[in-house]
Amino acid sequence: MPSSDFERDLALDAVRVTEAAAIAAAKLAGRGDEKAADQVAVDAMRTALNSLDIDGTIVIGEGERDEAPMLYIGEKVGSGKGPAVDIALDPLEGTTLTAKAMANALAVLAISPAGGMLHAPDTYMDKIAIGPGYAEGVIDLDASAADNAMALAKAKGVPIHELTACVLDRPRHAEIIAGLRKVGARVLLITDGDVAGVIHTAEPETGVDIYIGQGGAPEGVLACAALKCVGGQFQGRLVFRNDDERGRAERLGLTDFDRKYTLNELVKTDAIFAATGVTKGAMLDGVRYERGLVTTHTLVMTSSNRTVRRVRMSRPV
Ligand code: FBP
Repeated sequence: MPSSDFERDLALDAVRVTEAAAIAAAKLAGRGDEKAADQVAVDAMRTALNSLDIDGTIVIGEGERDEAPMLYIGEKVGSGKGPAVDIALDPLEGTTLTAKAMANALAVLAISPAGGMLHAPDTYMDKIAIGPGYAEGVIDLDASAADNAMALAKAKGVPIHELTACVLDRPRHAEIIAGLRKVGARVLLITDGDVAGVIHTAEPETGVDIYIGQGGAPEGVLACAALKCVGGQFQGRLVFRNDDERGRAERLGLTDFDRKYTLNELVKTDAIFAATGVTKGAMLDGVRYERGLVTTHTLVMTSSNRTVRRVRMSRPV
């Protein structure tokens, strides 16, 4: 099936799936229960996926079969009648954000033709990302955060103090943060949610120029699917903390543990990316319940034609 047909057929389906997960999770926003919020999002996303006419295989999901009862890696979803597709998902990206009713929690889904996305294990990944409009090679995961920021400022034609780097606020990033501040870059710290952090590099209104740091590998592939639709550059390297994690990678067919992946290696084919806001954020409004209606705000993007849409949905509760 040509990419454009695949995307036209499935983009609105993808929206319905992330809407369902976000609506479910939003009911539990601010209740202090990460697990419950995640569980209802998983249930809703699975039900919505299974209503679609696709022959879907989860390649990025809630974990491996023995640890995730639903939406595990390898699980088949859909009626089995439609196109064979790979599915990457995070029904609730930002479980803590949701539990604390903080900004930027999302329900996220990416769909590609079968074989289109890297089957990444549930480990960490070192990541660096920038938005569109720069020559290839401006950033390099192997260079320091400070050197990357300076190279990007030069390419953008701005002084370094006008450059903003988004970094997850974690002790493991102390060196990155100190290095960036030392050269004069502005560091925007986020408490969670690096899918949004990466996408922000492609959205000038967020003010973020570069994303740097270590986060989940599944979130890295999802963010790549998004960047593939809007342009931009991404490099990632899996980070293994023990043999169990290396074993997970091996079971998915990955043997070169030190490999530096580019965006097009993580997402090889065209893809659809959809994210619905659970809580209000820089990119999307959150789910709202008002006057008997539930309202959602979804970003849906397709890579073959670089189309970006924002969809508002409302329906009676
Ligand atoms: P969850 O929604 O699963 O809690 O993940 C949120 C998140 O912040 C991701 O966006 C990020 O990639 C990862 O957690 C970072 O992991 P850690 O919290 O272990 O540093």
